[in-house]
Amino acid sequence: MRILAFESSCDETAAAVVEDGRKVLADEIFSQVKLHEIYGGVVPEIAARSHLEVISLLADRALKTAGVTRRDIDAVACTYAPGLIGAVLVGVNFAKSAALALGVPLIPVHHIRGHIAANYLAFPDLEPPFVCLAISGGNTMLVDVRGYTDMSVLGQTRDDAAGECFDKSARVMGLGYPGGKPIDDLSRQGDDRAYDLPRPAVNDGNPFDMSFSGLKTAVVNIAHHAQQTGQPLDKPGLAASLCRVVSEMLVSRTMDAAKLLGYKNVAVAGGVAANSRIRADFEAACEKAGRALFVPPLRLCGDNGAMIGAQAYYEFLAGHTADSSLNAYATMTL
Ligand code: KG4
Repeated sequence: MRILAFESSCDETAAAVVEDGRKVLADEIFSQVKLHEIYGGVVPEIAARSHLEVISLLADRALKTAGVTRRDIDAVACTYAPGLIGAVLVGVNFAKSAALALGVPLIPVHHIRGHIAANYLAFPDLEPPFVCLAISGGNTMLVDVRGYTDMSVLGQTRDDAAGECFDKSARVMGLGYPGGKPIDDLSRQGDDRAYDLPRPAVNDGNPFDMSFSGLKTAVVNIAHHAQQTGQPLDKPGLAASLCRVVSEMLVSRTMDAAKLLGYKNVAVAGGVAANSRIRADFEAACEKAGRALFVPPLRLCGDNGAMIGAQAYYEFLAGHTADSSLNAYATMTL
């Protein structure tokens, strides 16, 4: 089954063709980073307008790269939640029209389910159950993946996402947007004990919930204090300390969840999964605990259409299709 899949939830427009949920025939991505970087973050209206300009072109390019025609497409899929609403609406509306024009089913996909499914593309033998930490710019969720479409949130951030913590910290350190990669790069030259950063605790019930806003504020305060007093800021040390603390918070909860559920397999997904410290810490923790680790290659960690096409296949098998009244949603539970 060949699915033409679209992703437009934030600042990447993507169109892909995926066969039977596991084989990527085309994966076209247009990144809007250049449009947003002067603002230091994603401007929702600019994002939506840019999706509108390029989505049709990307669809044509995906078909061409895949070496297929419109008639070879068996279904159309799109991210329908969560995300910047104007941005998601563009993808949903385009996918709806494409499904109508081609006379094929329309499959709505939850963005985080898509990130999790990036692992199916990278690791053809991976099957549920497994525990998956989904870490991106807008979401941080620990998920019990019992089946391809049977999953529940074990814990999540109560405030900022891990990626947001990196992005805001990078901004105050003058490292540009998006900030996760520059922080990661800089951290490799720094002492990860240079700054004693807080590990915000969530003490009221769910041990798997997380909080990143206090950590972000601590980094902002350290940077502002250095600016105001004229004292030098050890940027590599701050970046390394931040990566260490974020990684410790994420890795410990994920490993605890895998132990509790008795799952052998641990997966990581989302843009922040590109972080070298987080990857290295997961490798060490899984080796120590005797669990298998799955982290997609960098290209599949960030937003892309192939992951939507992968998850869409399993949603289709489960009968989760939509009619032409499908709407887009800024927020939605998994
Ligand atoms: O999954 P993604 O591409 O988009 C969303 O769905 O949000 O994730 C983007 C996030 C941004 O916050 C970006 O700074 C972060 O992923 N990121 C990283 C790294 N590369 C990207 N964070 C930490 N270390 C990295 N190497």
